[in-house]
Amino acid sequence: MQTQQTLLVVDDEADVRYSFKRIFGGDPVTLEFAASGEEALLSIPKLKPDLVLMDIRMGGASGLETLQRLRKSDARTPVIIMTAYGSTQAAIEAMKHGAYDYLLKPFDVPKLKEIVAAALRVSRDMRAKVSFEPLLGAEEHDQEIIGRSAGMQEVYKLIGQLSRSDVTALITGESGTGKELVARAIYQHGQRAEKTFLAVNCAAIPEALLESELFGHEKGSFTGASHQRIGKFEQCDGGTIFLDEIGELSLATQAKMLRVLQSGTFERVGGNQPLKVNVRVIAATNKPLESSVSKKEFREDLFYRLNVVRIHLPPLRERKGDVALLVEYFLNKHGGRGRALQSAAIEALEAHGWPGNVRELENVIQRTLVVGKAVAIRAEDVSAALSGAGRSVSGVQVGDVDFQELARQIFRWARSNPKLKLIPAMERELVVAALQEVNGNQVQAAKLLGITRATLRKRVDRFGIQHQLKVS
Ligand SMILES: Nc1ncnc2c1ncn2[C@@H]1O[C@H](COP(=O)(O)OP(=O)(O)OP(=O)(O)O)[C@@H](O)[C@H]1O
Ligand SMILES: [Mg+2]
Repeated sequence: MQTQQTLLVVDDEADVRYSFKRIFGGDPVTLEFAASGEEALLSIPKLKPDLVLMDIRMGGASGLETLQRLRKSDARTPVIIMTAYGSTQAAIEAMKHGAYDYLLKPFDVPKLKEIVAAALRVSRDMRAKVSFEPLLGAEEHDQEIIGRSAGMQEVYKLIGQLSRSDVTALITGESGTGKELVARAIYQHGQRAEKTFLAVNCAAIPEALLESELFGHEKGSFTGASHQRIGKFEQCDGGTIFLDEIGELSLATQAKMLRVLQSGTFERVGGNQPLKVNVRVIAATNKPLESSVSKKEFREDLFYRLNVVRIHLPPLRERKGDVALLVEYFLNKHGGRGRALQSAAIEALEAHGWPGNVRELENVIQRTLVVGKAVAIRAEDVSAALSGAGRSVSGVQVGDVDFQELARQIFRWARSNPKLKLIPAMERELVVAALQEVNGNQVQAAKLLGITRATLRKRVDRFGIQHQLKVS
């Protein structure tokens, strides 16, 4: 269960306190207030806020001064600077000192909520303790890396070795094998555990903006660059940056990345002043980088720089012995404590190929808990969950992740048959499958398909289905 997160708002204006109460009143967060920087610094050790929002101009100690003192004692609590319109430059200065982001007053409420939600996620990533097998039970933790297979033992050994050094790490493995989890474990067990950890997903940010996200930009460096921007490397000085999907970097950004790894220096986009930072890099990819190197899509020198220590996460199908452990872990996590799986159900799970790896297994367990109500989960419940038909079960909508994959697969098959009218063909097969499932009961079939009985009847007529049902 996730505990409620705490927001500390530091502002000397009573109005601001009122607007925060109004804006966050219905949200599952605890609001705390301080009227000055001094008061904030005194109350932080007690309140242990997950996020601080602070005005930059207050009576007494300025926001910037407070920020610097706060960062010195605790670099893991993100700080969002609030500033009046027209004093943006002060907020940007604050970001050079490690502020997470800034907001202009009066607030644009959707933007405020979006930034707060993102900062709370970052905060949780820094604090949620990831534990793994050799340490389990020995210390408090929020999340576990599960697995006792030889491949996972090797992973734990490498995390342990990495925690004693400060070298760059490259995490590889298919989608859903736990790369991000391992990156956070390296951070939390390493020498920089008390410093900042920021993640950048290189595939999620459009190419044109990624360089600016990583290294910042100068005002006027491109159309739309109306202010200077401080990049993640600068914000993260002293800490750890997690570069997810590093295989997606363009060759131009790769060159900048190589330089920052070699010398710790970079320039903001459109800037000519070299800046120096001390940031530990953890990178991850599900692409085989060696083959990107041979295709000249990824720089060989950057590859060697990243590949100092490589942690490879084995796909789940190569460590089937871990399936039962993971099942137990996810049952507990998703409210199925005390439920057991019949041995045939475990066998069905062990026999599956798991293209989506641990993430897919977690989804299947969640779905199984929805499908099967008996204490002992049966093989039928598991196969219903594995088929991931995405239909509504007991009124609960099944997640759409596997549905997407299923749709992609169907589309790929269908492409080789140009005569096929895919949607009518699929629709027909779904109607047939539903009717067969319920022995031709149209009321039940319509319910399973999520359409009205009248619509179902039209489809049955159009596709001439009754006839087929009778013969099959
Ligand atoms: N060994 C494990 N034990 C427990 N949970 C795990 C394990 N591996 C992965 N998970 C969980 O599975 C989900 C996917 O893991 P994660 O996001 O780390 O995968 P990833 O390798 O980064 O995938 P992608 O390449 O798709 O980003 C997460 O919810 C994570 O907590
Ligand atoms: Mg990931």
